[in-house]
Amino acid sequence: MAAESGDQEPTGPSRDGAWEEARALWSLDGEVAHLNHGSFGAVPVPVQHQQARLRADMEANPVRWFRHLPEAVARARGVLAHFLQADPAGTALVVNASAGVSTVLASLAEAQGPVGPGDEILLTDHAYGAVAMAVTRTARRSGASVKVVPLPARAGAGEVVEAVTAAVTERTRLAVVDHITSSTARSFPVGQLVEGLHRLAVPVLVDGAHVPGQLPVALETVGADFWVGNFHKWACAPRGTAALVVAPPWRDTIRTLVVSWGEGDGFPGAFDRVGTADLTAWLAAPSALALLESLGWERLRAHNTALAAYGQQVVAEALGADTGELWADPGLFMRVVPLPPGVATNDQSARALAEEVSQRLRAEVAITCWRGRGLLRLSAQAYNTPAEYEKLAGGLSRLLSA
Ligand SMILES: Cc1ncc(COP(=O)(O)O)c(C=O)c1O
Repeated sequence: MAAESGDQEPTGPSRDGAWEEARALWSLDGEVAHLNHGSFGAVPVPVQHQQARLRADMEANPVRWFRHLPEAVARARGVLAHFLQADPAGTALVVNASAGVSTVLASLAEAQGPVGPGDEILLTDHAYGAVAMAVTRTARRSGASVKVVPLPARAGAGEVVEAVTAAVTERTRLAVVDHITSSTARSFPVGQLVEGLHRLAVPVLVDGAHVPGQLPVALETVGADFWVGNFHKWACAPRGTAALVVAPPWRDTIRTLVVSWGEGDGFPGAFDRVGTADLTAWLAAPSALALLESLGWERLRAHNTALAAYGQQVVAEALGADTGELWADPGLFMRVVPLPPGVATNDQSARALAEEVSQRLRAEVAITCWRGRGLLRLSAQAYNTPAEYEKLAGGLSRLLSA
């Protein structure tokens, strides 16, 4: 079971000065507690500089730059595929996870076979909102319907696989499942889900937006038909860097959303030449991986998981949350605290509360409404400190009781 009870002792975040040097790698506003790395990431200064150097090269001779760009992109793509332990011949770069999901859905619709009138596409009720919107648009266009599988936040791996596979019918043409969920911050057993769904002949698109840099993965063993993941979240690459990994039988089906000169190059080469674009983010992404590697992946994971657990504990205590209600994925850098009933009970009030926390408490957090309940998501990255969560806990408790 991925979810554990939240009433365990936290392993204890590091309070020594060992991380001060790492904190100095980011250019974040020191007056603000940045406790929401998960939404948009944060690019370390050396990676910003690497991208600036690449941009300077581009501006020194744009014609020469674009002539050689496909080779440079192919090299960067190889590095990112290696990091994911994915087949480089099945890995394309796209600007974000949303683009990756839309690319897959549009390609399947264009190939006309996979999804048609009366068919079903499966989602869970943890799916990211924009991904659910993309699935809904595809379903509407092809006369199919979207079937949403409800999964309790604390559901264990077996329960998740059982519920998703039990929802399959003879009309199910595609299942879209999260590798790590956004609002509820938990991982799903994607290997087992793929196995169970493949046994029922259902292709699987895995939304791994939060995976690169947070969960160590070997995508070759996951076996998903399609997998998308952002490097601009936890891998700290410049924004606009994501991977779309496609299994061999589907590579001829997957086409770029925009037609350009790469059209004849097939998958993944076609994705390297989609009109004129500033692709320096992709080229700088390997430097972000090298920088995180220099901090030590194991050390970074231990730091971030312990800090996220600590943050959840202090904020939950301050809000008087029922610890039996908490869930946690010990390997993730994000944890959730359910807000008191009646707080952030719709998208609008969730957004308003996040803005109020930003302005009045000088802290950035993710607040969403899931199943009518306000959820506060805390992230932990190398630059965060225990004191930031402690300050948020006190401030939030005062704000919500005012
Ligand atoms: C689970 C999940 N999927 C997809 C996305 C979309 O990522 P992007 O905005 O980079 O396309 C996000 C963004 O936060 C996400 O959390």
